[in-house]
Amino acid sequence: MSCTSGSEQHEQLDPVTISFHDLQSGEDLSEKIEEAFGFKGLGLIVIKDYPEFQAKRERILRAIRKFALLSDEVKDKCAVPQANYSFGWSHGKEKMKNGIPDFAKGSYYARPHADIITDDEELKRQYPETYLDNVWPKTDCPELENAFKDMSRVQIDMGHHICKLFDRYLHKLTGGKHKLDTFYNMLKDSVAYKGRMLHYFPVEPELNSSIDGLCGWHLDHGCITCLLSPLYLDLEGNVLPKPNECGLYVKSPRNGSVNKVDIPADCLVIQLGEFFQILSGGLLRATPHCVRSSKSLNITREQLAVFMDCPPTQLLKLPEFSLPQEEVFNTPFLPDGVPELKSRIVGAETYRDFAKNTFKAYLQ
Ligand SMILES: [Fe+2]
Repeated sequence: MSCTSGSEQHEQLDPVTISFHDLQSGEDLSEKIEEAFGFKGLGLIVIKDYPEFQAKRERILRAIRKFALLSDEVKDKCAVPQANYSFGWSHGKEKMKNGIPDFAKGSYYARPHADIITDDEELKRQYPETYLDNVWPKTDCPELENAFKDMSRVQIDMGHHICKLFDRYLHKLTGGKHKLDTFYNMLKDSVAYKGRMLHYFPVEPELNSSIDGLCGWHLDHGCITCLLSPLYLDLEGNVLPKPNECGLYVKSPRNGSVNKVDIPADCLVIQLGEFFQILSGGLLRATPHCVRSSKSLNITREQLAVFMDCPPTQLLKLPEFSLPQEEVFNTPFLPDGVPELKSRIVGAETYRDFAKNTFKAYLQ
């Protein structure tokens, strides 16, 4: 099915959906993994049926909105410039594709699984984005911390389940060369998780006229990302149905079509990042995507993304069963302006090097 939004042609493919109960039962879902993350997949999978999910989702998404609507003076108490704003509140510090500071969305970053992971001051000084402590608005928006921890615990649990499925699929596909629990163990003990609570402020429609106006085309560069279904609210805080033009848009590697992926309110999504594409020797695929918020000045959008990355020192190395390099590092139908994967692995020996190259490349 296809639809038009402005001048763009969009295809509407249903994403692969699995049930939380199937995950729990340990069923072999390799076919679903292939359909979602193989060469023809959208690079993501939808998980439904998580018990008591809606209450947790609404609690955190309302809390981020409440925080974002506090005064700048209050919010700035939770900004962490020494971490390049990658902990606590960040607003107007990142750039949009045209180089203009991004005031359209505000982000609150926190590590999901532990407020403090080290007391090594040298480590914190060298790698503040990874090792600094969480900050919380304990008096101005006390519900944010617990709502975040409560929801992100579920997202991480789902991420671990999907890692097990990746391992099982790759184990089968490579005749046992990919060992069971490789990805699961890599992520299970990692400290490199980050949650990003997002509030999209209403913006003038001209800033949001194309699908990639506010959150441009990109690929997630880490291992996996877990997203919620975003919450749309009017200015009084009433829940609204998802506006038709809004959503997550994904480039299909099959034919380059742009697919709008609607995440049902009671589901979450796991998306693959480029580093797992590399570590799977190209058998799992990440896809370019962008996000469109509402064109209305009366609607805000709330989201929580949890990025689950491997340890910073994980080696960037193709497995012995890898596809040829040019296939691993090629992204079909790469949108204009998105830096090629092969350009960002140059000189990178570890995940940390690769992440650094990527941040630099997107800022150019
Ligand atoms: Fe993304």
